Amino acid sequence: MDWLYWLAVLTIAYFVVCIYLILTGDCDIILYLFTKYGKKPDVLRGKVVWITGASSGIGEYLSYELAKAGCRLCLSARRKEELERVKKQCLLSGKTTEENILVLPLDVLKLESHTAAFGDVCKKFGQVDILVNNAGRSQRAAWEKTDLLVDRDMLELNVIAVLSLTKTVLPSMLDRHDGHIVNMSSVAGKIGAPLSGSYTGAKHALQGWFDCLRVEVATRGVSVTSICPGPVFSNILSTAFTENHGEELGGAMKTGEKRMSTERCAELCAVAMANKLDEVWLSNNPVLFFLYLNQYFPNLAKIVSKRMGLNIIKKIREGQQ
Ligand SMILES: NC(=O)c1ccc[n+]([C@@H]2O[C@H](COP(=O)([O-])OP(=O)(O)OC[C@H]3O[C@@H](n4cnc5c(N)ncnc54)[C@H](OP(=O)(O)O)[C@@H]3O)[C@@H](O)[C@H]2O)c1
Repeated sequence: MDWLYWLAVLTIAYFVVCIYLILTGDCDIILYLFTKYGKKPDVLRGKVVWITGASSGIGEYLSYELAKAGCRLCLSARRKEELERVKKQCLLSGKTTEENILVLPLDVLKLESHTAAFGDVCKKFGQVDILVNNAGRSQRAAWEKTDLLVDRDMLELNVIAVLSLTKTVLPSMLDRHDGHIVNMSSVAGKIGAPLSGSYTGAKHALQGWFDCLRVEVATRGVSVTSICPGPVFSNILSTAFTENHGEELGGAMKTGEKRMSTERCAELCAVAMANKLDEVWLSNNPVLFFLYLNQYFPNLAKIVSKRMGLNIIKKIREGQQ
């Protein structure tokens, strides 16, 4: 019976360590272990990384992180002057040079421009090693008041544009038997984020689409990473969709709110990329704990969220709890 005793002790110890890491951590346990013992972002040196939404927030800070790692970068978004500012900041790190950064203004909603844009990146760098589909907008709106046109705009930006750009770049990666697609999903791609119904739907769709692609291309040299951040400091509240078609929320985040810093988010994203992890969760608590609860006890998580009510959920999301 001795071995049974030790099996029980080891099992209990394993769960205690896991719960400790979840309650004190800011990312899932696997990613945490990779930050300690995995490859560092330096392994990405020389890789050509095309980042959409690089003019602000997570995409901007990920650009800094990858510039430090010595990547060759193509920075895309609509606002050219903001991209130039990000480029300048990348150069200040001293770890990259002018010829390693291409500023490529792109409205991802203009699907017909994707092929030409890809051509521009290839003309400059020869190929795209890593595509980071990061451009996106969030939402604050009650489900029943949301105009169907908002749902459609959300899907076009956060899903269809991502599919289109990926379909543009993927064939060349498959030909080379080498490539990496990285999607900026969200915690809302894993669990429902009440008062962001269209956003939740879009990020869940992204997860579904790319969970299939990951397996289909697994033996053909292409990896797919889904990054699921919780609340992170950025400008996302300013451009978030509302319930009304064509409207932007115009909100702002306040310092002191309980959100992950953009720098930390970018650091974790870079580790996930360096180690080609399939899916990573980045969030402070209580959101991280709730993600695990939902993963392993989905029925309990549904009961808890209904009991918590909208006010508490709203406070957690806005970094006030
Ligand atoms: N911040 C969070 O709490 C959080 C949490 C989970 C997931 N995310 C995800 O992280 C990603 C980045 O968001 P963020 O928080 O960093 O927000 P952000 O600061 O508002 O950045 C959004 C980026 O997307 C670009 N963009 C928007 N519409 C575009 C278009 N039509 N064409 C090209 N680029 C476009 C913006 O650039 P231009 O305006 O210059 O075009 C900007 O660079 C999004 O996919 C978001 O869903 C964010």
